[in-house]
Amino acid sequence: MHTLAVETSCDETALCIYSDKEGVIGDIILSQAKLHFPYGGVVPELSAREHTRNLLPLLDRLLEETGFDLKRLDFISFTLTPGLILSLVVGVSFAKTLAYYLEKPLVPVHHLEGHVYSVFLQKPVPYPFLALIVSGGHTDLYMVEDFGKYLPLGGTLDDAVGESYDKVAKLMGLGYPGGPLIDSLAKEGRPIYRLPRPMIEEDCLNMSFSGLKTAVRKIVEGGGYSKKDLSASFQEAVIDVLERKVILAVEKTGVKRIVVVGGVSANSELRRRFSELSQKLGFELHIPHPKLSTDNAQMIAYAGMERFKRGVMAPESINPEPNTPLEVFGRLWS
Ligand code: KG4
Ligand code: ZN
Repeated sequence: MHTLAVETSCDETALCIYSDKEGVIGDIILSQAKLHFPYGGVVPELSAREHTRNLLPLLDRLLEETGFDLKRLDFISFTLTPGLILSLVVGVSFAKTLAYYLEKPLVPVHHLEGHVYSVFLQKPVPYPFLALIVSGGHTDLYMVEDFGKYLPLGGTLDDAVGESYDKVAKLMGLGYPGGPLIDSLAKEGRPIYRLPRPMIEEDCLNMSFSGLKTAVRKIVEGGGYSKKDLSASFQEAVIDVLERKVILAVEKTGVKRIVVVGGVSANSELRRRFSELSQKLGFELHIPHPKLSTDNAQMIAYAGMERFKRGVMAPESINPEPNTPLEVFGRLWS
C-alpha cells in the first residue's frame, strides 16, 4: 500500500511517499527557518503563505525525483491537528483537493502521534511504552498502550521545552530556531549559572518552564554574561527536569520502555544524558535520528498507514483543528 503524506502544521512544508512494503520512496522538506529568523519565532501569516507558495512545486519535485505515479496511491495522509490554524488549513485543503481529484481516501493524523511514530520508521517499538514528546509547541508524557490508545500522564503547565529554547535564544539575540543554536553554544560553555529546576521535587509528572526563562532573562538584563555558559546552564536545567520526570514516570507505571521524540529530541546533550540514564537504570530507550526528530512528513505517512490499516478514513468535509488533545484524537479516529 502507498500513501502520500502532507505536513504543514508549523514552519516546515513536508511531503512523503511511503509504502508499507518498501518504506520511504520519496521525502521532501522545505524549512522556512530563514524567513522567520529575524522575528525570533514563527510568524503564522508568513508561514501559511509559504506553504501555499511551495506545496505544488514541492510535489512536482518529489514526483520528478521518484518517478512515482500518483495513481498508485491508496490514500492521502495529512496532519489535521494541532498546529498553527492557517498553516493547517493550507495543508488540509491541499490533501483534500488531491484526494478528490485522485478519488482516494483521506486519513487524518495527529501531529504528536506522528512524532511518537517517528521512531517506528527505524524499528517498531513493542507496546506499552512511555512517550516523552518535547517539541516547539508541546511537552507531554504519555503512556502508549496501542496505536490510538494514548494515556496522558503529565506535561508542561506553561511553556513547551522547544518554546523555551526559542525564547531564551531570542533573549540572547541568537535568532530562530533557538534549539540548535543553544545546543551548539552549550558545547563550548560550562553550566556555571544557578538556574531553577521548577517542579523537579514534586511527586507528579507535570512540569513548568516559564520560571526558568524568567531567570535567564534576569541574567541577560544584568549584562556581562557569557552566552556559552548561559546556554549550557539553561540546557542542564531543562534536561535535569525532563530526566527526573521520566524516572518518576517509570516508577509510577512500571513501564521501562521509553520513546523520546519531537524537535528537542534532536538535542545532542539530551540524547547523551538519556542514553546514559537508560544504561544506568536499565530501561529501553528509543530516540529517532535527529532528522526525524524535527517536523517531517515521513512520520505522518507512517502513522497514516497504521490508521488506514485499521480501516479509519475521514469524510471529505473534514476541517483542521488548532489543538485537539492526542488522547481525544486517538479515541475519535481509532
Ligand atoms: O517538533 P518540531 O520540529 O516542531 C513542533 O512540532 O513544534 O520542534 C521544533 C522545536 C523548536 O522549538 C526548536 O528550537 C527545537 O525543536 N529544536 C531543538 C533542537 N533542534 C530543534 N531544541 C534543542 N536542541 C536541538 N538540537
Ligand atoms: Zn512537531
